[in-house]
Amino acid sequence: MNIILLGAPGAGKGTQAEVICKELNIPTISTGNMLRAAVKAGTEYGLKAKAAMDAGDLVSDDIVIGILKDRIAEPDAQNGFILDGFPRTVPQAEALDAMGVQIDKVLELYVDEEVIKSRLTGRRVCLDCGATYHVVSKAPKTEGICDACGKELVIRKDDQPETVISRLETYHKSTAPLKDYYQAQGKLITVEGVDTVDGTSELVMAALKA
Ligand code: AP5
Ligand code: MG
Repeated sequence: MNIILLGAPGAGKGTQAEVICKELNIPTISTGNMLRAAVKAGTEYGLKAKAAMDAGDLVSDDIVIGILKDRIAEPDAQNGFILDGFPRTVPQAEALDAMGVQIDKVLELYVDEEVIKSRLTGRRVCLDCGATYHVVSKAPKTEGICDACGKELVIRKDDQPETVISRLETYHKSTAPLKDYYQAQGKLITVEGVDTVDGTSELVMAALKA
């Protein structure tokens, strides 16, 4: 099954992707995680992406579409995948359709903006494996250390309150129109993401299996 996860920053896309990945045994393809890895490694496209990411803007469609196209051609993506953070603009969705990629379901996680703000200020991430935690709602077993790979957890640079506001504006302007795009294709399902992580996962898995 090829799945797209849509939703505002902090809606829980990365968190639910980890669950779906285990349940359905398909990889998560997160353009945000791939871009952060490129920034950390100092690659050419990492250098180009950094300023936009730090400001809460989108990285250019050309760069992101190129990264995505290479990633979905890899062997582990041939039996299905979860797209977390892609597409994020109508031209990106059109590019995906033009590649001939068949999308089965587009799952939107909907969460109120006040909840989102508190989620993002408490978020901690592993820059090594991409796992996501929250100091209150999803604390790691050892403070500051990733349960999955044992590396150090950090606060994302774009989780500063003023950058979060820019990211939310960018979402409404550029990404929210994708709801209409996929509604028109009959693929959009909306799930409220306000319950606990486990409670939300139950709703998500039920929606995907329906
Ligand atoms: P990206 O990394 O995709 O960031 P985002 O979309 O802003 O989404 P987030 O990762 O902030 O939120 P999430 O929905 O994954 O929430 P999470 O599960 O972590 O992109 C970063 C940047 O890269 C972009 O701004 C852009 O510059 C660039 N970029 C990426 N893709 C691009 C593209 N396609 N085109 C152009 N540019 C692109 O959850 C948030 C927190 O809440 C966590 O702490 C979590 O533990 C907690 N939490 C989650 N669920 C619950 C729950 N149910 N109850 C309580 N706490 C919860
Ligand atoms: Mg994420």
